[in-house]
Amino acid sequence: MTKERSCCGPTCCGDDAPSAITVATPALAATPPDKGETVRAIVRERYTSAAERAAEGHQASCGCGTTCAAPDAQVWDPITVDLYEQGQLEGIPAEALLASLGCGNPTALAELQTGERVLDLGSGGGIDVLLSARRVGPSGKAYGLDMTDAMLALARQNQQRSGLTNVEFLRGEIENIPLPSKSIDVVISNCVVNLSADKPRVLREAFRVLAPGGRFAISDIVLTGDLPPQVRESVALFTGCVSGALTEDEYVAHLGAAGFGEISIEPTRVYERGDAQALLEAAGLPLDPLLDQVTGRVMSAFVRAKRPIGS
Ligand SMILES: C[S@@+](CC[C@H](N)C(=O)[O-])C[C@H]1O[C@@H](n2cnc3c(N)ncnc32)[C@H](O)[C@@H]1O
Repeated sequence: MTKERSCCGPTCCGDDAPSAITVATPALAATPPDKGETVRAIVRERYTSAAERAAEGHQASCGCGTTCAAPDAQVWDPITVDLYEQGQLEGIPAEALLASLGCGNPTALAELQTGERVLDLGSGGGIDVLLSARRVGPSGKAYGLDMTDAMLALARQNQQRSGLTNVEFLRGEIENIPLPSKSIDVVISNCVVNLSADKPRVLREAFRVLAPGGRFAISDIVLTGDLPPQVRESVALFTGCVSGALTEDEYVAHLGAAGFGEISIEPTRVYERGDAQALLEAAGLPLDPLLDQVTGRVMSAFVRAKRPIGS
């Protein structure tokens, strides 16, 4: 695959995207509602563009990571590249893979069982929902939740192509999950929690919808240390899933505060110098001195936790 990178800059995927809004997310701070709406609007705009590209048959890009290439360019992105092995994709429409914008493969790690009810937070083009539906079989069910209409349309199209019927895509926000309490066995997600302006609330909502003993099993970007302010304030790197990410300590603290137990964070891909350079260049940020401060500090990780039995 050609290592072609097109810079999105702060207005990636939409010439009208706001570029001057600071979206830094200080550790454990509550986010005022108006800021949450602003962040959702920016994120929705970027992922509407990504869905439209995928619907036209191009690699979605413009998702996690910061590539946003011309329609016929071959896209290489350190975050989204090569997440799924060919053997896992049998029966999954090519269009769903094309629309994949995550940073991991949660269904490969979530140990889904026949008959389970699964919820994917920020389901995008639907690839992890379809993979889950196949794993849990007709006696189980896979829900996808997303706030972007164009993504929901794409996901429903991909469901039709797959022929899977134990699937439902819901419109809504991961901060207000439109499902009853204790109605889900496994919450999955692929590179979405980092995009929320109120991550503690997302984790509390995940806990609420899980049945006692239920599993939280998600892929996300996680930081091993703080990022420099210039990176934290980059809109391109926020919508690209990097600068809104929690540190490992913050993730563990928020999950614990939400009531979860058996919390673990397992790195699946650490972004080293070349990757960090690609991300900074695509966001239009100077390499000196940021490259040294970003290298090795950003990783894709599998985050696991459980809602205790009896809770
Ligand atoms: C990086 S993409 C990941 C999509 C999908 N999980 C995948 O792996 O391809 C982020 C998705 O999350 C959705 N999203 C972001 N923030 C959200 C929120 N607060 N509530 C609901 N959906 C959200 C976006 O619309 C987009 O479809």
